[in-house]
Amino acid sequence: MTDRKDERGSTMSTGAPALSDRNSLTVGPDGPILLQDVHFLEQMAHFNREKVPERQPHAKGSGAFGIFQTTKDVSAYTKAALFQPGTTTDMLARFSTVAGEAGSPDTWRDVRGFSLKFYTDEGNYDLVGNNTPIFFIRDAMKFPHFIRSQKRLPDSGLRDNHMQWDFWTSNPESAHQVTYLMGERGLPRTWRNMNGYGSHTYMWINAAGERFWVKYHFHTNQGMAFFTNAEAATMAGADADFHRRDLFEAIARGEHPSWSLSVQVMPYADASAYRINPFDLTKTWSHADYPLIPVGTMTLNRNPENFFAQIEQAAFSPGNTVPGIGLSPDKMLLGRAFAYNDAQRNRIGTNFHQLPVNRPKVAVNTYMFDGHMAYHHSGSAPVYAPNSGGRSWADETGPVVDGWEADGPMVRSAYTLRAEDDDFTQPGIMVRDVFNDGQRTKLVDQVAGSLLGGVRSPVLERAFEYWKSIDADVGRRIEETVRGGGAPKPAEGMGEG
Ligand code: HEM
Repeated sequence: MTDRKDERGSTMSTGAPALSDRNSLTVGPDGPILLQDVHFLEQMAHFNREKVPERQPHAKGSGAFGIFQTTKDVSAYTKAALFQPGTTTDMLARFSTVAGEAGSPDTWRDVRGFSLKFYTDEGNYDLVGNNTPIFFIRDAMKFPHFIRSQKRLPDSGLRDNHMQWDFWTSNPESAHQVTYLMGERGLPRTWRNMNGYGSHTYMWINAAGERFWVKYHFHTNQGMAFFTNAEAATMAGADADFHRRDLFEAIARGEHPSWSLSVQVMPYADASAYRINPFDLTKTWSHADYPLIPVGTMTLNRNPENFFAQIEQAAFSPGNTVPGIGLSPDKMLLGRAFAYNDAQRNRIGTNFHQLPVNRPKVAVNTYMFDGHMAYHHSGSAPVYAPNSGGRSWADETGPVVDGWEADGPMVRSAYTLRAEDDDFTQPGIMVRDVFNDGQRTKLVDQVAGSLLGGVRSPVLERAFEYWKSIDADVGRRIEETVRGGGAPKPAEGMGEG
C-alpha cells in the first residue's frame, strides 16, 4: 500500500519511484535496517555531502538578480557591449560581510562585499568590489595574513581585537580603510542603503583602441542609512540574517532597489605623473581632478529561487573581463585575478563555470575539458589547437589592446612613492573635513571601545600613534578615553576580503 503525500510521490535520483521518505526498510517494525534500502542509503550519503566549503572571506551573504541599463553615452571611453547606450544586461549581485562565517550576524561592523556578475553579449563580466572605495593593503602577498588576523585565534577559536589591531598598526597603509570602517559607514542599515565601489583602478578601451583608467562608483538610490552600535548589536541577536531578509522581502514586495553607476575616468597618460600612485588601492582619486561621469542604473528585481544553487554556488572573479575592459598594474587586482577561480575550483568544483548561475549566455568554445562533474561538452570535436578538424582557436600575437608598459629589474618592493603618497593624509582629510563633530566623537568611542576589548602593549601604544598620525586631536582623545577606561567592545567582523 502506498503512503504517498500525493499520487506522484517522489523519486530517487535515477528517476525511479522512491517508496518512502518517512520509513526505512526494516525486518519487522522494530527490526534492523536493511542494506538493500538503496533509497535510504542514497539519502544518508548525499546528506553528508550537502554542504560545500564556505567562501574563505565573505562567507555570509546573499543576493538577487536584476538588470543593468546603460542610459548615458560612455562609448568614447569603452567599447564594452554592456556599456553602450541603450543596452540592458541581465545581472546578479551578491552582498556579504567579510570576516564572519556563513552563519554569522549580518550587522557586525565590517566591510561589505558588493559582487556583480553581468551576463553580457560578449561573455560574463564580473565586478567584485566592496561598499568602500579603498582597501587595507596594497600587495596581494599580505592578503592571507590580513584575513587570518581578522578571523579567529588558533587556540581559543575566538575573535580577537588584539590580533586585528596588531595587523592594522603593523601595516599603516590600512589607515584609510580602518577610518572608513570605524566611522558610521562601517555599519550600513541594510544592503539597499549602501553604496558599492569597484575600488581598484580598471582599464577601459574604446573602439579606436584608446585606453583610460577608471574607477566605478555605484550610488544607492535608496539613500545611505546606518545602524548605531546599539541598534546593530541588538539586531545581531534578534535577527542574525537581517540584511539577507531585508533584501529578499523588499524584492518580494516589489520594491526593487537600484544604484546609479558613475565612473571617474583618467586619461591613460595622466597615470604616470599623477601626484599619488593611481593604482594604489588605499587611495581615492580627487573628484575635482576626475569628476564622476554617469553611466547607467542597476536594479535588482528578482529573488533567487534556490539559495544554494544560485547564491552559494555563484562564483565571481575580478579576472572575468570582456572586450573593452581590462585590469591595471594594481598588484592587489593582479593577485585577485588568480585567487578567485582557484578558490572556486576548490570550493565548488573543477567545472563550477558550467553551473547555470555561472554560465554565460553566449556560446562557449573553451579548450578546458573533463574533470569532476563535467556536464557541457563538445562531443567529438578536436580537443587540441591548432587542429585540422574545423574547431576554431585563438591566435592573437603582438601588443595586447588592454596592456600597459612594464620594465625594470625583478624586485621585491613596495610601490615607488610619489609626491603625495603617504598613508595618513587621506584618512586625516576624512576625519577632519568629511566627518562632523558628532561623527568624530562616535569614531573616538568606537576605536577606544575596540582597543579596550583586549588590545595589549605594545600594540596599544602603536594604535595611539597610528591614530595621532591620522589626526592629532582624534588620536589624543582616543588615548585619553582608553586610559580613562570605558566600555570595551568585543571583536566583531572587522575584516575584508
Ligand atoms: C589580493 C587580495 C585578495 C584576495 C587574494 C582575495 C581573495 C578572495 C577569495 C579567495 C574569495 C572567495 C571567493 C569564492 O570562494 O568564491 C574572496 C571573496 C570576495 N572578495 Fe576578495 N580577495 C582579495 C581582495 C579583495 C578586494 C580588494 C576586494 C574588494 C575591493 C574583495 C572583495 C571580495 C568580495 C566582494 C568577495 C565575495 C565574492 C562573492 O560574493 O562571492 N577582495 N576574495
